[in-house]
Amino acid sequence: MRMFDIIQHKRHGLELTDEEIAFFVKNFTAGNIADYQASALLMAICCNGMTDRETTTLTLEMMNSGDTIDLSRFGNCSIDKHSTGGVGDKTTLIIAPVVSSLGGKMAKMSGRGLGHTGGTVDKLESIPGYKTSISPEEFLDIVDEHGVCVIGQSGDLAPADKKIYALRDVTATIDAVPLICSSIMSKKLAAGAKNIVLDVKVGSGAFMKTIEDARLLAEKMISVGESLGRNVRALVTNMDLPLGNAIGNSLEVIEAVEVLKGRKKGDIYDICVELSANLVSMFKEITYEEARKMVIEVIDNGTAYNKMKEWVASQGGDVSTLDDTSKLSGNELKREIVAEKNCFIGAMNAEGIGVAAGLTGAGRQTKADVLDLYAGIYLNKKTGDRIEKGDVIATIYASTEEKLDLAEKKFMESITFSSEKPSKPQLIF
Ligand code: URA
Repeated sequence: MRMFDIIQHKRHGLELTDEEIAFFVKNFTAGNIADYQASALLMAICCNGMTDRETTTLTLEMMNSGDTIDLSRFGNCSIDKHSTGGVGDKTTLIIAPVVSSLGGKMAKMSGRGLGHTGGTVDKLESIPGYKTSISPEEFLDIVDEHGVCVIGQSGDLAPADKKIYALRDVTATIDAVPLICSSIMSKKLAAGAKNIVLDVKVGSGAFMKTIEDARLLAEKMISVGESLGRNVRALVTNMDLPLGNAIGNSLEVIEAVEVLKGRKKGDIYDICVELSANLVSMFKEITYEEARKMVIEVIDNGTAYNKMKEWVASQGGDVSTLDDTSKLSGNELKREIVAEKNCFIGAMNAEGIGVAAGLTGAGRQTKADVLDLYAGIYLNKKTGDRIEKGDVIATIYASTEEKLDLAEKKFMESITFSSEKPSKPQLIF
């Protein structure tokens, strides 16, 4: 078999055989196929697409390119969630304790952020003492005992995806449905959970810019997951504006704690209830309505917050910082952005606000950058909110005046004001 022929077949719009797809994934992972040939195939896939069978085979081969985690000891209770990424997305910090307090088993490996703000692991590292690197045995023992453990990527999960993603990133081949689907699902399937909920983001801060594209991606991911024996559900949700009010690592932990203490409602609460209820209904095999009631109850009665403390303590974190979240801040300078006139927030560009948060030091430009875990932006107002002259619209935290200036400039370019009340954006499509 020759890579040349595989590229040619896809370029002519033919369906690749399972053998051709396996040949590409195995040999590219092993370093036997040059980047220029792999890039040519990825571009042909972008242009001509893949059938469901091809996408499933690609996902399976990528999943089997490295380690897979065996969660069979948790039976039907193993759960996982994945978000296709967005600004202010701290849902894992809330969903993990909610769902594990109801008997779910979440053994989760999460990523670090590259881009606007940190990933889940970076956020958790803002809790003093929290260990994100743990041996595989201890990882599963913690899940066994406490129902949840969240650590950084370890082992060699889907190495084919790492190599393919690195090429896609520099060859304008990121936003093709079969490639996104196989990239996300190969990692999720290798991570072993029986029940998976996907949060597919759509809007200015997301890969998918239209609801149709997001729905198509969601359907493909469900179909691939189910054909490989997992229960998968997906929500398509709005990423035209940031999720919740906090963007930045410790700021997002504080907001998650507020939700779990029952003190914060709004979009972040709603989306976490929805995602959690879907997971609970899957692993308990009960209706969505029954599951939703249970989810709301464990937030209202403090069970989920206590579970968060139990989880954080089991990974070495200082839980006194959760009881008193003022301990989760440093000596950052603070600048309030104040409204100059009475009006409404007309629109917020999620991506622009994410970039502004990155400029505070909350995000990485390169893998080697060290994050400022206490920097970021708190949105005191969001799209559709009425503002009076003198109201604080947002609060920026950064270590220097220069960073505050850069973040403020980008933030102001990313919002528009309106004299008319705009409609509140829809959260879940
Ligand atoms: N997230 C991934 O892991 N892969 C993609 O291709 C896109 C988003």
